[in-house]
Amino acid sequence: MHDIIRQLDEKRQQARLGGGEKRIEAQHKKGKLTARERIELLLDPDSFEEWDMFVEHRCTDFGMEKQTPPGDGVVTGHGTVNGRLIFVFSQDFTVFGGSLSESHAEKICKIMDQALKVGAPVIGLNDSGGARIQEGVASLAGYAEVFQRNVLASGVVPQISMIMGPCAGGAVYSPAMTDFIFMVKNTSYMFVTGPDVVKTVTHEEVTHEELGGAMTHNSKSGVADKAFENDADALLQLRRFIDFLPMSNREKPPVRSTPDNSERVEMSLDTLIPNNPNKPYDMKELITKIADEGDFFELQQDYAGNILTGFIRMEGSTVGVVANQPMVLAGCLDIDSSKKAARFVRFCDCFNIPILTLVDVPGFLPGTAQEYGGIIKHGAKLLYAYAEATVPKVTLITRKAYGGAYDVMSSKHLRGDVNFAWPTAEIAVMGSKGAVEIIFRQDIGDAEKIAARTSEYAQRFANPFIAGHRGFIDDVIMPHNTRVRVCRSLRMLAGKELENPWKKHGNIPL
Ligand code: HXC
Repeated sequence: MHDIIRQLDEKRQQARLGGGEKRIEAQHKKGKLTARERIELLLDPDSFEEWDMFVEHRCTDFGMEKQTPPGDGVVTGHGTVNGRLIFVFSQDFTVFGGSLSESHAEKICKIMDQALKVGAPVIGLNDSGGARIQEGVASLAGYAEVFQRNVLASGVVPQISMIMGPCAGGAVYSPAMTDFIFMVKNTSYMFVTGPDVVKTVTHEEVTHEELGGAMTHNSKSGVADKAFENDADALLQLRRFIDFLPMSNREKPPVRSTPDNSERVEMSLDTLIPNNPNKPYDMKELITKIADEGDFFELQQDYAGNILTGFIRMEGSTVGVVANQPMVLAGCLDIDSSKKAARFVRFCDCFNIPILTLVDVPGFLPGTAQEYGGIIKHGAKLLYAYAEATVPKVTLITRKAYGGAYDVMSSKHLRGDVNFAWPTAEIAVMGSKGAVEIIFRQDIGDAEKIAARTSEYAQRFANPFIAGHRGFIDDVIMPHNTRVRVCRSLRMLAGKELENPWKKHGNIPL
């Protein structure tokens, strides 16, 4: 008995050492933590239940049979974050560069299967040189097994990828199918083909960082949802993020007690909207002023800044916020902002998270770049997402809600449950000046006449009451009361039940 216990201890010790002291040191030198150190930071102390520590690869080519480190380059299991169950895999770069073998993939699949059965999120900490080159097609098969599970788990349990090292080639497609991709600045990168291949094919010279670093994907491509300073920052923020999410599509989001009173009024909101309708203001101020304790977990903050997306809590419950940002492109909808918001709305709808939409939108961004880029299809994504969503939907129009963009932004007509407007709202087919220049084209040379017509049009249409007369707006509320009214509406909607007609799946304009 003692012998076997000693052997077990030795094996565990060996597994914990991964690729050995030297490689661990090299990992630290790059400013990266090891796979196990990362799990320790992510999970509650002493909560990790490791699985498959003794799994070894089965490759016998290239002398691989002589190197069979226990665990095979990925640490897997389950544990808790603030007491709530999650499943996690953490790739160990010190073992064959974290590369994915058949056995490595089987370990990931095992925890994904279990997470799906019990209904708990899957968190991937990615740090891998890609397919285990010595294994060839067995490794590719392993990837495909993971991809298949990513798709089956989509909309059932939240899936989050934290990229903490290389992630290249086809390997990027597993994170791409998860709900959120987070990256660590300076140490992580993602690309389908690396700088050398790019140089050969397109003659472009580009560094790893420029091609696929954290800021590239957070500000240019929109592939990633957030960038963090270092491993520790990333994992602590990930804990904070997980706190917002339900464990599965069978659950409501968690409720956290808060000292913030739902009846809190915020007088400063009465002067948020500038007198000049063309002057921007910061929509983030409204979000933080109505959120519990001013806490806003913003996503994709460096991408498509004309729309804001992220999570807040109201009366302790998670709420997804989508808001036009007048500070960027006057808050217009364009291709990038439509895609950004559509994906977020669909995530909220999958996981029973109510959506609060704050509207100040002058319309869709005009131009050949937008039309040639397919704004018709991309804008339709957001329209589709809102129209499809059955979660509680509360909308507030603070200022402009013009044209098709009015319809898209969670209007009453797309089954908005509660649609409020501030007294400063202008709900119309377009801005007054544009409207007058079309319907009174014959007067365009006469500045005085145009000014008079514009003012007449504005008086008639640039207000919330025409929509109010028709019941498209449920109430015109005072800005200082926004938190109170939204909290009451969400409380009223807590028991909402709504089902779409049965179908295999819809055909969202991709
Ligand atoms: C096996 C690998 C490996 C791999 C790295 N290693 N990648 N072993 N398969 N894919 C090993 C190295 O041999 C080395 O072993 C150790 O990991 C660390 O690698 P280094 O090169 O020393 O580290 P670094 O300089 O930091 O460079 C990291 C790297 C580089 C950029 C990831 O290793 C690299 O380019 N690797 C190959 C990447 C690649 O082409 N992968 C296949 C892509 S195709 P020792 O023993 O020296 O420590 C693919 C298809 C997936 O992934 C398709 C899915 C559909």
